[in-house]
Amino acid sequence: MVRKLKPEEQAWCIDKETGEPLINKGVQNVCIDKSTICFIDGYHSKLFIRGYSIEDLAEKSCFEEVAYLLLYEKLPTRSELAEFDDKLREERDIPEKLVNLLRNIPSDIEPMEMLRTAVSYLGNLDPERYDISRDGMYSKAIRLIAKMPTIVAYFYRLSNNMEPVKPNPDMGHAENFLYMFTGMHPDELEKKAIDTAFILYTEHEMNASAFTTVVIASTASDYYSAIVGGIGALRGPLHGYANVEAMKQFNEIGSVDRVDGWFKEYILSKKKRLMGFGHRVYRSYDPRARIFREYARMLAERNGGEVKEIYGIALRLEEIALASPLAEKGIYTNTDYWSAIVYAGLGIPVDYFCTLFAMSRVTGWTAHILEYTKENRIIRPRLFYVGEVEKEYIPIEERG
Ligand code: CMC
Repeated sequence: MVRKLKPEEQAWCIDKETGEPLINKGVQNVCIDKSTICFIDGYHSKLFIRGYSIEDLAEKSCFEEVAYLLLYEKLPTRSELAEFDDKLREERDIPEKLVNLLRNIPSDIEPMEMLRTAVSYLGNLDPERYDISRDGMYSKAIRLIAKMPTIVAYFYRLSNNMEPVKPNPDMGHAENFLYMFTGMHPDELEKKAIDTAFILYTEHEMNASAFTTVVIASTASDYYSAIVGGIGALRGPLHGYANVEAMKQFNEIGSVDRVDGWFKEYILSKKKRLMGFGHRVYRSYDPRARIFREYARMLAERNGGEVKEIYGIALRLEEIALASPLAEKGIYTNTDYWSAIVYAGLGIPVDYFCTLFAMSRVTGWTAHILEYTKENRIIRPRLFYVGEVEKEYIPIEERG
């Protein structure tokens, strides 16, 4: 006889005191493991990566150092950094077969979709693809960190009828990406801005994409599958793609004098989400956004023109949002708001913004995969069943 379940039939989901189901929609505030990778103090605008403040890392470090810190759990010595950096430089080239794939991917596809396909294909080509040992994971991680910028830059140039620019072994990781992408030698401000942008996006605790990579790795699947999953999760507009959406929003507003009216109409009246605002963990200003904001200012002042106009729009929009009911609810500026303007100031087209996030975040994803799988346990949550059981099966001929 068809029936609903009694609470004791899913006792693991029931709070013993209240008798109510224990549901944590969005897995909010659930800790899945112990970690030494990252701590976010969301109430006091603080972020630490392996114990170091994001402000110190952004100011005093370079991307290669932070990547090493994430992978090897300590800051490198000079010689360790040089060795790591050499390996990255050696791995920047991509196989000809992958270049051919990039030539054949439709040029109007979203760059994040291209990246998902390209990383998956790179996995197909890697003879070590099934090696899930720690050493195997490290060598694949270095390969991927080194090659993702080349993939993105090559696709951009090929799909815009330009010849790819080969990696320059004399340049640092972030600088070389910008060089391969734009075909121009970055100046000092651009070099520091792109390197800082890479650092700021390396790692951010158990966010949706990191969780996805760890879920996949926890099944003892391969490294490339985990990273491809992470790229898929990052691509959503509530996560990494928010920097694309933030820029579209600034463009939609169009001019500083339209900001107040737009905010009133779309955010306050129509309850649209302000992109680049709000966070599951922060109830204060995202510390990464503060750093991005400063680079956005410098690039806007230096470049002038369209970037300066967009910067002006973003500045006014932030000012009124922070004085609105959003801030009273703890909804503040997040990193994707100001990174959008930094990327635009560096000459990156809007639909590529999220790929820059991904090529940096691959370091954090790898750190989480390595940490979680050290003492692996497959990730397998439950659902509270509210449907019926013991239904009579009616043969298809009798269902009408
Ligand atoms: N604009 C307007 N209202 C918002 C916003 C926003 N950006 N963010 C949250 N809210 C409201 C939401 O409507 C809800 O209101 P109510 O309680 O009246 O229903 C309340 O705040 C709580 O929202 P929530 O969706 O339960 O919060 P969450 O922790 O599940 O979501 C978030 C976090 C990042 C998905 C969300 O803040 C959001 O959609 N922001 C815009 C997209 C964005 O900028 N994402 C980038 C996140 S940071 C970097 C990254 O991960 O890539």
